[in-house]
Amino acid sequence: EYPHYPPYSPRDRRSFAFDTVSRRWPIILTQVIDAIYRASDAGQYAQPEAEQEGIELIKRIGQLKYGISRNVVMEPIQDDGGSNIELFNSMLSYLEMQHENTWFTAPWLYAECYLYRFLRTIFAFSTNWKGFDPFREQKERTFQGSGKGVFDLAGMMHKLEPERDELAKNEKALEVLFIDMVQMCLWGNAVDLSLLTSLDLEHLAELQDVGAAAQTARSALILRNDTERLWNHVRQLKNARLDIVLDNSGFELFTDLVLADFLVTYTPFFSEVVFHPKTLPWFVSDVLPADFSSLLSSLTTPNYFTEAPTPLQAQHLSALATRWRSYVASGVFRLSVPPGKAEGERMGEVVPEAGVDWWSGPGVYGLMSESEDGRAALDALDGSGLAIFKGDLNFRKLTADVAWPPTTPFPTAIGCLAGRFPLLALRTNKADVIVGLPPGLAEELDQREPKRDWRFSGKYAVVMFCPEGET
Ligand code: F6P
Ligand code: MG
Repeated sequence: EYPHYPPYSPRDRRSFAFDTVSRRWPIILTQVIDAIYRASDAGQYAQPEAEQEGIELIKRIGQLKYGISRNVVMEPIQDDGGSNIELFNSMLSYLEMQHENTWFTAPWLYAECYLYRFLRTIFAFSTNWKGFDPFREQKERTFQGSGKGVFDLAGMMHKLEPERDELAKNEKALEVLFIDMVQMCLWGNAVDLSLLTSLDLEHLAELQDVGAAAQTARSALILRNDTERLWNHVRQLKNARLDIVLDNSGFELFTDLVLADFLVTYTPFFSEVVFHPKTLPWFVSDVLPADFSSLLSSLTTPNYFTEAPTPLQAQHLSALATRWRSYVASGVFRLSVPPGKAEGERMGEVVPEAGVDWWSGPGVYGLMSESEDGRAALDALDGSGLAIFKGDLNFRKLTADVAWPPTTPFPTAIGCLAGRFPLLALRTNKADVIVGLPPGLAEELDQREPKRDWRFSGKYAVVMFCPEGET
């Protein structure tokens, strides 16, 4: 039976689960309160009725915060017409039978998904704040501060242009570049620009050295790295579809787009990309459809970035933005958006797919085939040349967030997803769960870092690949 091990839970006081529920959530909820407060200072939310309602919302979120600290029972999600209510509530009933239906006794993964869904109902039941994303400003501000990384990557992409022909005939160069691109996209999840490779394509030969050196330096931090196997799969593809189950907005999304662009524009392997966003404000920074379109326009908005680009940098960035917009217009880049859910989103060929809400639900991916929505989300990934799952939360959901022995093979940990389509997880470690490590490594790291920080500090990462047909 899957999964065989106990879920990570705040009941273990040494866990990052406990730290999150007791310390990080109160901070996040306080930020939500601040966001409402600031929004009601001007514009549509400052209208007397909206402002009054804002005060009510702040009170409810204050109650939620207090309830968590008092370890109260989690109430069923009220029907706000939104997604995944049945699944949330049936899982909650099950937890109630186990006497695990309070904030500090429920499995961490469930409680955390519930938290964001519960927050959503608070806004959904309002009259004036239905469409309010309490994390919007935060996401935007962080991206505005990411100018340097953005300009660097745009410059790097610019340098690829004259190398197009060379890349078409030099497979080794393509491989080196591919490896660097995967790592760039991986560290985009750390949202730590200092970890970003400075890719340079001036001379391909030199690049191979630079790539190799940089690779060695960073590979010590990648606790499990399947990039070579991944390459052996990718190099055989022709005009395949790439799927990216997105994680965070802003800089990470920018790195996702760079990887997607590289694969479509400079390699024969892929010719289309489907991006899978969230459909409700999720784990603070996850991509909503509106974040996707706002990123595309921000790239050419004057004075958007805190640090101004040089005219040349602005040119490179604008060239990139133009190409990406043309890909969106022609359907080469598609955002998987539910019908009717993304008002104002007129982005090329929007694909109305069933199952799009699955990614903003409580279900673990290894059991996807057991629910109708999960099956629909799975069906949408079938036929993919590669499905990339970005970030920590996706990794927790892939592995069910349970205490697997650290040496558990990745395919075992991902349940029904194993072997169905080629699957890649790019994750910087920000939670307790870990699998796929060689024998002894977890013990060695535990000894080196007795507080178990290596599991959740974001310093380490994993690149895990499960090919089609492997279980
Ligand atoms: O708050 C818990 C958590 O899931 C952590 O595991 C992680 O730090 C974060 O939220 C989400 O990280 P990511 O954006 O990489 O999924
Ligand atoms: Mg996230």
